[in-house]
Amino acid sequence: MKAEYKVELYTGIRPTGDLTIANYIGAVKPLVELQKQGAKSLVFVADMHSLTDNEPAVANKFCREVVADYLALGLDPNKTNIYIQSSIAYQVSYMTMLLARHTSVSELLRVPTLKDKLKNTEHPETANALLFLYPVMMAADILLQRAKSVPVGEDQLAHMEVVRRLARDFNARYGDVFPIPAVQQVKSLRILSLKGTGKMSKSVPGGAIFLTDDLAKVAKKIKSAETATEGVMTDSLQSHITLAKELCGDPAVHLNIDSIISEHLEGKQVMGVFKDLLATIVVDFLRQFQTRRAEIVKDPSYIDSILKEGASVALANAESTLDLVRSSMK
Ligand code: TRP
Repeated sequence: MKAEYKVELYTGIRPTGDLTIANYIGAVKPLVELQKQGAKSLVFVADMHSLTDNEPAVANKFCREVVADYLALGLDPNKTNIYIQSSIAYQVSYMTMLLARHTSVSELLRVPTLKDKLKNTEHPETANALLFLYPVMMAADILLQRAKSVPVGEDQLAHMEVVRRLARDFNARYGDVFPIPAVQQVKSLRILSLKGTGKMSKSVPGGAIFLTDDLAKVAKKIKSAETATEGVMTDSLQSHITLAKELCGDPAVHLNIDSIISEHLEGKQVMGVFKDLLATIVVDFLRQFQTRRAEIVKDPSYIDSILKEGASVALANAESTLDLVRSSMK
């Protein structure tokens, strides 16, 4: 019984600043909901992965910011341990090397995220080798912590294939070392740009609502967002409905939204009413978030102590896994 799980739910988040409301609905909220189901969970900020695009100092700077964001969005430190990946940098790096030995160059060259990146950069010959090792480093994270289930978005599925293949091959060679992690695909709701075309994204700031946006500006952005002609359901309207319902869980408000939308579909002129409601919902949500976040960052020792505890859990798991790995390779 070597290959025991240590963590039920495990995932990594990127240290990027400026989360949008679409990031919240697509990535943060599903994680917060999974955590509520009571599993023992561990979440980390993948600052070493983000060295693919950032200087170490930049990656590091955003770590605490993103932790503050996630805590203010509902991640509960009593249920979830949180650590920064680089606080166990030695273990992650060493494990990455050991696993890289069992990964072929051709397998990594076939990973679609790498292929797309190379295709879409002007100078593919300058792409760095860390990009290439990305899935192997993910395997190091997950296998070190002996994770049972890994919730990830669709974009990470190909990486998870490499992780599971590595765990199986390593076991086949050295014995029952790693428990095999299950992939839990998080269904991601698509929130569109307020400008009407494409996904809401940071790169089109006018069509995106940021969690840090000024509340008066948010209300204006929503009022000038794309609307649907009476009687017609559009992708953009559907996205607004999703946005409203995801941000406000009150069933009475959901009924109100449904009745406004059925009036709209009957041809009545109610888009103004709907937008007012949407603006109220978004502004209320952001106000609560911003208040909670300000509270959280007021005392820096609060986040320090959460990260310290998380790091000690992650380190203990990683060291005991490495002991097992070393002894199985003798
Ligand atoms: N690659 C993930 C992302 O870009 C982050 C990540 C790194 C991760 N290591 C992981 C996710 C291990 C789950 C498990 O979002």
